[in-house]
Amino acid sequence: MDKIFINGKVLPREKAAISPFDRGFSYGDGVFETIGVFSGVPFLLEKHLQRMFLGLKLLEIKFPLSREQFISTVFKFLREMKVADGVLKIIVSRGESERGLLPARDLEPTVLMSLSPLPARDFKPIKTAFLSVPVLPPKLVIGQIKTLNQLPQVLAAKECQKKGIVEGIRLTIEGYLAEGSMANLFWVKNGVLKTPEKNLVLPGIARELILQLARIADIPVSEGKYPVEEIYGATEIFFTNSVRGIIPVGQLDQRELHDYSVTKRLWALYEAYLEKYIAENRGEG
Ligand SMILES: Cc1ncc(COP(=O)(O)O)c(C=O)c1O
Repeated sequence: MDKIFINGKVLPREKAAISPFDRGFSYGDGVFETIGVFSGVPFLLEKHLQRMFLGLKLLEIKFPLSREQFISTVFKFLREMKVADGVLKIIVSRGESERGLLPARDLEPTVLMSLSPLPARDFKPIKTAFLSVPVLPPKLVIGQIKTLNQLPQVLAAKECQKKGIVEGIRLTIEGYLAEGSMANLFWVKNGVLKTPEKNLVLPGIARELILQLARIADIPVSEGKYPVEEIYGATEIFFTNSVRGIIPVGQLDQRELHDYSVTKRLWALYEAYLEKYIAENRGEG
């Protein structure tokens, strides 16, 4: 975990550097992905790269490698790092340029990969609460992809810390239920698994997998635009992201939740899917 991939080279942390004029640093002009690595396998790498390449296309950043070439680069880095479990972060910025919002054409992107420890993934219900930092309108490109502009999420994470919680519930500017600071939001009401519709939130990779697993398991699913009151009568609530999988909720504000039946079913299905994926993708690249 002490080495960084930077523009084709793997360097010790203290030697890895980017230009002070990198647009990722100056303007947040770039994209990133955060991927769970289990037994040396980057879980759902192809989905993460699909979102990353969509982001690069929307931002008109020219990436020098094809998706296949980049997949090989990722696996080569992981092999070199000899890390079984960790969090792989990939950052691609537009590259270095002179001052000014408008980038020069054909800049060479900065590509960075780093690994950090994987957080614990046990079934430990958390406390949650509503946050005041809203989710950006879906029509903005930066609401749909993982850009380096993470200030709303940073502010939301700080708000969580002040409230003494791990994750909170953010609303859209119009006041509809949206997502957390680092995860998508689900709840169960009258036996139906519900989540805010895709174009209100970051289309999370774990969110997509949970919906797919729920449909296979015949758990009724509903995606929509929900007002805050909708979650008050929920019997179960959980968050999802690629690194932590399912994060169960045991308390929303003062209300305790005691039913985890659907959450536990999905947890088991998610873990089984993860194990199968690892077995099938070991030694890839
Ligand atoms: C705001 C937000 N929503 C949702 C997610 C979950 O996305 P994924 O499942 O792709 O990790 C993240 C992940 O970092 C996030 O930052």
